[in-house]
Amino acid sequence: MPKKTQIMVLGSGRALPEKILTNDDLSQRVDTSDTWIRSRTGICQRHVAEPGTALSDLVTAAAQNALEDAKIAAEEIDLIILGTVTGDMKFPATACFVQAKLGAKNAVAFDLSAACAGFLYGLQVAEGLMATSGYKHALVIGGEILTSMVNWQDRDTCVLFGDGVGAVVLGPSDGEHGLLHSCLKSDGTFAKLLYNPGGGSLLPPATPGADPAEFSIHMAGADVFRHAVTAMTSVLQQLLDEAGVQTSDLDLLIPHQANLRIIEAVAKRFHLPKSKVFVNVDRYGNTSAASIPIALDELRRSGELKEGALVGMVTFGAGFTWAAALMRF
Ligand code: ACO
Repeated sequence: MPKKTQIMVLGSGRALPEKILTNDDLSQRVDTSDTWIRSRTGICQRHVAEPGTALSDLVTAAAQNALEDAKIAAEEIDLIILGTVTGDMKFPATACFVQAKLGAKNAVAFDLSAACAGFLYGLQVAEGLMATSGYKHALVIGGEILTSMVNWQDRDTCVLFGDGVGAVVLGPSDGEHGLLHSCLKSDGTFAKLLYNPGGGSLLPPATPGADPAEFSIHMAGADVFRHAVTAMTSVLQQLLDEAGVQTSDLDLLIPHQANLRIIEAVAKRFHLPKSKVFVNVDRYGNTSAASIPIALDELRRSGELKEGALVGMVTFGAGFTWAAALMRF
């Protein structure tokens, strides 16, 4: 039987940039088509932030949305964890800007870099800190402006990503609802299958003569696809085994929204019907760390997540990092 929960979701929120980029819009920029993108990825459109948008502004909007939903004041937040790889600037942490913008003056705030796994990593980190440090309320957020590091000339990658933020407020569990179990995984031997080589200490932004393409996302798409399916399958199985839960006990699976074909391949391995697998990649593209919390917020607000629903979440991303979590709503 699953262990007792320590933390639960008290509220959720999301923020998406207004501007929408359709597949047809992209086909004006690179040699691609709506048919290719839909059939290979399931993506129809994505939200994109205007150049110069601060991620912290979008994150603050999503966090305010979640605080209102939870009926918690910003001053009551003890901890802010922001999963992101596209913060406002190299330092300080974007979570610190968010703390100031929210007026969450009692919160410890930091960013967590685990790419698409940032939100599920954040949940487990928050659970641990809340158990050991006396923190009562935490904001765990996944937020990205991935289009800020997209090479718009590279059709292999530029069609895949979108911008957005999802946030949850966590608080003490009532013992029944909340996070039941989570598993985190990393394997840095695959780091260079999906990475942004430039902009760090190795290749600083101001390097004379540096190729601008080095400051954008590089991806070995087919390899990433293969690893994503295998890793998401194995971590989800580990999660279910360790929690003592059967696949048939799951009311819903929320997979990371990267590619409909990855989602379908994972669902097939668990014999999950379409009705139990959440999909919104068609509307948002791959929003990295934001994809699972955006999905959670959509489901909570639409009333699709019924009281007592057992929900599995599974993700995979750069690093490689991957993770799964089980929650009772
Ligand atoms: N439009 C038209 N043609 C394209 C495009 C495009 N946007 N992109 C690639 N192609 C072409 C290729 O050049 C290739 O042409 P060729 O056969 O003449 O060489 C052809 O389409 C087939 O390319 P493949 O790479 O075999 O296409 P595939 O079916 O593997 O799909 C994709 C590519 C969508 C990138 C897939 O590999 C994928 O989704 N990988 C996972 C990537 C991902 O999700 N990364 C995000 C981060 S990790 C994560 O979140 C899980």
